[in-house]
Parts: sequence; structure tokens; C-alpha cells
Amino acid sequence: MSKGKFITFEGVDGAGKSTHLHWFADVLRQRGLDVLVTREPGGTPLGERLREILLSQPMHAETEALLMFAARLEHIGQVIRPALRRGTWVVSDRFSDASFAYQGGGRGVALSKLEQLERWVHEDLQPDLTLLFDIPIEVARQRLSSNTSLDRFEQEQGSFFEKVRQAYLERYQKNPQRFVLIDAAQTPEAVKADLEKIILALA
Ligand code: TYD
Repeated sequence: MSKGKFITFEGVDGAGKSTHLHWFADVLRQRGLDVLVTREPGGTPLGERLREILLSQPMHAETEALLMFAARLEHIGQVIRPALRRGTWVVSDRFSDASFAYQGGGRGVALSKLEQLERWVHEDLQPDLTLLFDIPIEVARQRLSSNTSLDRFEQEQGSFFEKVRQAYLERYQKNPQRFVLIDAAQTPEAVKADLEKIILALA
């Protein structure tokens, strides 16, 4: 059986990636693929408990990075690798690029430390494809403003998200072969049309 593909969705809060992710996974399923949808932080019982803490409890930026990667190690070992081995495609709402963007860009954790964690936790596993939902921060903030219960990250200032966005774009520039940049400021229909083209090239 052929190995499954590992696809990740990334972008700042308010970019709309989560809505499109479920639609994307359904289209892959309609094409006969076995697809597992998961998310980070989370994806395992321990990971989901760490998510609750990460989204609510103030902590040192490096603690945040360590917990993100701890949750990731569980996620990779228990969920992602076993699924890929049995030929299932894995579509994850965020993965390590989010740590480089939020903890690295947003919080200022040294790149060298994040690279060390990445090597430690998943040296030989990288997504086959990462869809980066890119959007001007003012537009993303407007979309979030109708949401009444914002988590610890969503409550950050616009300047934090500018740094997160830039760090995502730097990850894209360093790994252009792995990323596809999606213009998330377009209408949902236009984003879907872009995703359809990507799916046609994939499966
Ligand atoms: P998000 O994926 O946006 O979920 P929801 O759509 O339910 O709000 O929320 C997860 C938050 O965690 C998001 O603000 C980004 C943050 N995050 C990091 O800071 N670092 C990471 O490594 C990951 C995976 C997420």
C-alpha cells in the first residue's frame, strides 16, 4: 500500500483556514482517499489537555514552545505516523510552522532553539504540502472581532500578528517547494477554486 500524504494548513488567526480544511478533506474523501483530520496543539488525549492549558494559561514563551513540541511528539507517534504508514492521508490544522511563526516570530523565541526542537521531535518527518493562508492582519482582525470568546493567542495585539505573518512568510521563502501560498483575503468561493486546483494536482 502506498504511504499517505501529510498536508498541513497554516496561517494567522482569522485567516479562515479551519473552515476550508474540512471542505478540503471532504473533497479528498470523495476522490476515494482515506483521510484523517487532526489539529495542533491537540490530536491526542494528552495533546488536547495541553491545548487547553496553552490557550488559557499565561507562561514563559519558551515554556510555550516546549509544550507545543511535547504535544507534537505525542501527536506524531500516536496519530500521524501510524496513519501515514497505513496509507491514510493526514490533514492537520497547524504543525511546526506555527511554532516558528507564533513562538519564534510572535514571542521572539530563538530560531536556533526551535530548530533544535524540530530536529529532536521530527527530524525526518515534514509535511508533503503546507497551505499557507496569507491575509493582511487588519482583515484577519476584523474577522475575529465578531467572536466573543477569544483565546490567549487571539487576544494578542495586531503587532504580534504582523510578526507571526512575517515569520510564516519567511518559512515559505525558505521552503518554497513544500508551501503553497493561498490569498485568504479573497472570497471563500475564490479560495475554494484555488484549493480545487491544488487537489487536482495532488490526487
Ligand atoms: P487555532 O488553530 O487557530 O484554533 P481555533 O481555530 O480553534 O482558534 O488555535 C490554536 C492556537 O495555537 C493559534 O492561536 C496558534 C497557536 N499555536 C502556536 O502558538 N504554536 C503552535 O505550534 C501551534 C500548533 C499553535
